[in-house]
Amino acid sequence: MLKRCLLVEVLLTGSLFLMAPELMFSQPQEQWRVNGSRLNDHLQTLHRLVSKASGKASRVAFSDADRTGRSYVINLMRAASLETKIDHAGNIMGRREGRASGSAPLMLGSHLDSVPDGGLYDGPLGVMAAIEVAQTLNEHNYVTSHPLEIVVFQNEEGGKTGSRLLSGEVMDKEFDLITSSGKTIRDGIRSIGGDPDRLEQIRRRPGEIAAYLELHIEQGAVLDSKDISIGVVEGIVGIKRWNVSIEGFANHAGTTPMNKRQDALLAAARFIEAVNKIVTETPGRQVGTVGQIQALPGAPNVIPGKVNLSLELRDLDMGKIDDLYQHIASAGQNIAQGTGTSINFEHFYTSRAALTHTRIRQLISEAAVGLGLSAMQMPSGAGHDAQSIARLAPIGMIFIPSVDGISHSPKEFSRPQDIADGANVLLQTTLTVDAALEHLSSRK
Ligand code: HGY
Ligand code: MN
Ligand code: MN
Repeated sequence: MLKRCLLVEVLLTGSLFLMAPELMFSQPQEQWRVNGSRLNDHLQTLHRLVSKASGKASRVAFSDADRTGRSYVINLMRAASLETKIDHAGNIMGRREGRASGSAPLMLGSHLDSVPDGGLYDGPLGVMAAIEVAQTLNEHNYVTSHPLEIVVFQNEEGGKTGSRLLSGEVMDKEFDLITSSGKTIRDGIRSIGGDPDRLEQIRRRPGEIAAYLELHIEQGAVLDSKDISIGVVEGIVGIKRWNVSIEGFANHAGTTPMNKRQDALLAAARFIEAVNKIVTETPGRQVGTVGQIQALPGAPNVIPGKVNLSLELRDLDMGKIDDLYQHIASAGQNIAQGTGTSINFEHFYTSRAALTHTRIRQLISEAAVGLGLSAMQMPSGAGHDAQSIARLAPIGMIFIPSVDGISHSPKEFSRPQDIADGANVLLQTTLTVDAALEHLSSRK
């Protein structure tokens, strides 16, 4: 198996990473390390292949660039001797048998897709590191007790679709949502090899995944500003999203007096201001964003008769999200009254807040200490596939620094050494969680 892996590695990336076999087999587990240059090389090769396909780092779900990245990752999974398939949701699953083959798998992974004009590391870091863990275990000829499932969840940026299809959270109305690729989610699933008519077959039930681990960039500036190598994630914020539509009356911009207008865009401007005011004046770490806006008919000489915008609220406490929404909705009604417009809210997306498992947090912290890395416990302000899987299994998340806290941007960057360090924490945590799973109760 080892020789075949190395040979395919050369064929795939033209680079050969060799470790003296006698060295690999004699080391105690806690001294095992990933091949950092191979891991960083895989990330840069992904960037090169995708940029060639789309001219930028973006890998918007269901786009040609996304498909380019997915086929490269499938090749890497096969080179790591993973039994690879695409499930009916379009998730890529790579399986590595364990000693207790009938037991529930330990799942590692993340996503490949990015936001439009996104960066290289948000998602691919966790995918490539998970494959690197499998490759490193191969090179040590080591078989974990539990089977490993290395997973690429599809369309994480467009609503964590792949992971929420496993947990059963996707609402029917989401399948007709148009994604950044221009495809509906339903058509997007087909375009990557899934089958939207057989999604029930891929549902997972609690207990069918032993635990889930995800390595991810922080996407904020806390670790980088404090010069800390590893973030041990305590919990992931909940997210709710609404489509907001404001109806006024389209009319001539030149002949309609200012006091006779029903200007939907004026109402929208006041609404956006109100969202920011209500969210910032409420004590706590919640955030609220209007990220999309469309004014119709969209001509400079027509008073906008209709405005569509998005509303997103995030907090670790779902009850707080609901309270904030109530305040925002009533402020919206007052604004509509004052501008002669009407406002409507349609809730279309929920991703529930999720706490990571206490024991897994301890094992991540112990792995960081064992590797001589600084670490701190912290929440995640970004949403992740891990929070979907948290409805099925105990989860753990590991962060590495995002330089200057930049993410969802081509300027997103994480240092090669931090990438290798994060993957080593993932490797060591995989080994200790695999051993600890028998005693890991389902409670947090
Ligand atoms: O939106 C998020 O928080 C994540 O990056 N998908
Ligand atoms: Mn992500
Ligand atoms: Mn993201």
